Amino acid sequence: MTLLYHADPVRGRAWQAIFAEAAPDLEFRLSPEIGDPADIRYLAAWRPPAELIARLTNLEVLFSIGAGVDQLDLTAIPPSVSIVRMIEPGIAQGIAEYVCLAVLALHRHLIDYIGAQRDERWASLRLVPAQERRVGIMGLGNLGVAALERLRPFGFPLSGWSRSPRTIEGVTCFAGTADFGQFLSHCDVLVCMLPLTEQTRGILCCKTFEELPGSAGIVNAGRGGHLIEQDLLDALDTRRLSGAVLDVMAAEPPPASHPFWRHPRILMTPHIAAMTSTESGARALIENIGRHKSGLAMHGLVQRDRGY
Ligand code: NDP
Ligand code: OXD
Repeated sequence: MTLLYHADPVRGRAWQAIFAEAAPDLEFRLSPEIGDPADIRYLAAWRPPAELIARLTNLEVLFSIGAGVDQLDLTAIPPSVSIVRMIEPGIAQGIAEYVCLAVLALHRHLIDYIGAQRDERWASLRLVPAQERRVGIMGLGNLGVAALERLRPFGFPLSGWSRSPRTIEGVTCFAGTADFGQFLSHCDVLVCMLPLTEQTRGILCCKTFEELPGSAGIVNAGRGGHLIEQDLLDALDTRRLSGAVLDVMAAEPPPASHPFWRHPRILMTPHIAAMTSTESGARALIENIGRHKSGLAMHGLVQRDRGY
């Protein structure tokens, strides 16, 4: 059995060493040293070129090295190939930390205080008790739930929204388009932790913002394609929204002329909310390959018809 790795070479060499010790029966090849393409059953990649996929005639599983799969062109991957997204504790830990950081930044008026310091103003704002700040997460998957667990001790009233109904202790759960408006009306801070699909593209738009309580804040740690950027600018400029913390952008990095760089009510980070951990990411991949070989369901198997 052979796995081909086609992504960042530094991580690739580290994974090769982990595989040599933990899965010695699996041959680990580092692209571009492909060898005989017919040997390759597993491909671990972020954005594999269509020509590479076409050469791997015996490919059985494509493992995304990240949690998202929207970067893949699913139409270029034969239907016989299973697609699996990365589920590993390092990503969940990173997202949980980032969502807490962003929610607390909005809750404790950090954007205002950064501006005040820049202007040399010593001015305090009312401290809103956590019990009065309602936080809602769109996307109750692996990462949305990890974030909710870390937010819980702060005492924010929590809610969540998913495609199918979910039950999470201490979280008011909403599901489907029918519940979306009601969910939004509960969110003083709205966090996007959705996958990017045809259904979720552009979901952070003026219609959504209008259904939030006045002066709500938003956090986007999903994908840049979830946000209609001009709608955010309009909502911030009219104070419909009070602030935004954005980890992901439509173009990464955004061009130098992009208005978000200098917007006083936007905190922007360069897609660093979470990163696949070298150690636990490799272990998760090895476990999933073991499951595949034994005919067990792999963790994170993508349903192509849903797009996630
Ligand atoms: P999951 O697949 O585990 O969860 C996705 C969640 O979104 C599920 O609850 C799903 O509902 C819900 N969902 C999907 N489509 C819809 C819809 N149309 N309406 C309502 N809810 C919907 O994904 P993860 O939690 O692992 O990851 C989420 C995303 O986070 C990734 O796809 C990626 O884009 C982003 N990400 C960002 C990172 C960063 O550094 N900024 C790092 C890692 C991931 P249901 O439960 O019903 O299936
Ligand atoms: C991911 C990401 O999907 O880093 O893992 O965004």
